Amino acid sequence: MAGKVLVLDDDLIMLKSCEKILNHQGYEVSTASFGKEALSMLEKAPFDLVVTDIVMPEMDGIEFIKRARQINPELQVIVITGHPSQDTLREALSLKIIDYIPKPFSPSLFIEVVEKGLEIKRKGIELKPMIDTDFDLAKNRIDEVIKRHRHKRGSLIPVLQESQDIVGYLPPALIRYVAKKMRLSVSEVHGVVSFYSFFSMKPKGKHNIKVCLGTACYVKGSEEIVNKYKSSLGIEMGGITEDRMYSLESVRCLGACGLAPVVVIDKDTHGSVTPMNALELLKQYN
Ligand code: FES
Repeated sequence: MAGKVLVLDDDLIMLKSCEKILNHQGYEVSTASFGKEALSMLEKAPFDLVVTDIVMPEMDGIEFIKRARQINPELQVIVITGHPSQDTLREALSLKIIDYIPKPFSPSLFIEVVEKGLEIKRKGIELKPMIDTDFDLAKNRIDEVIKRHRHKRGSLIPVLQESQDIVGYLPPALIRYVAKKMRLSVSEVHGVVSFYSFFSMKPKGKHNIKVCLGTACYVKGSEEIVNKYKSSLGIEMGGITEDRMYSLESVRCLGACGLAPVVVIDKDTHGSVTPMNALELLKQYN
């Protein structure tokens, strides 16, 4: 997917790393170390997406986003942060940013969020300020979970598991909330969430479809099954339908290679799936 991305960060190592990762994905990347420099680049040429740090000398990320939006009100922004204050983070989230990524982050997470940003730009989706309504509604129950586990050793994973069971996924606000309540850093909690595959930072549909793209399934055509689901449900990989009925994700080998290609819907494993019967399967789940 092509895209023109501007990365702003006063940390040169971070700047070069982001540039390298995005160049490798085929994006056209420009970089700036100062807010003023980035603003003049935005005045001279259009960009599809801006990735910006928050804590920077002279002009911080919040001011930069506000001034950049005066140049281009539709500008899509992703924030990469070190350890901002809760107030700063809250202000960034209120600026209709696409997402924020706590530093340090993995290249795969960075690519995933950038791709999401470019897709939003391409489809012209209007962003609302990031408020994790699902989490807000469940706050009392999550408080109880944290209270029950807080003084036990190794309690972070059970807290996250139970919170995910309540909300259905782990949205950014929930990760921040758990970190604050358990007196841990956001990046520590985020690191645990990204490490374990059973945690998800994305909302899931009422029915979650997992298509195996491991070698055995791939050679037997699982990519065509993915394409079938994408086109008929109108979502990308990792996406969720507007009615929240279905979500789609890929997995690498489910340990059932003899049944390749394999699709798992909720807890049911379906083997020898073809692009033809992939949609038929969904009729059992509505
Ligand atoms: S490669 Fe798909 S189940 Fe093993």
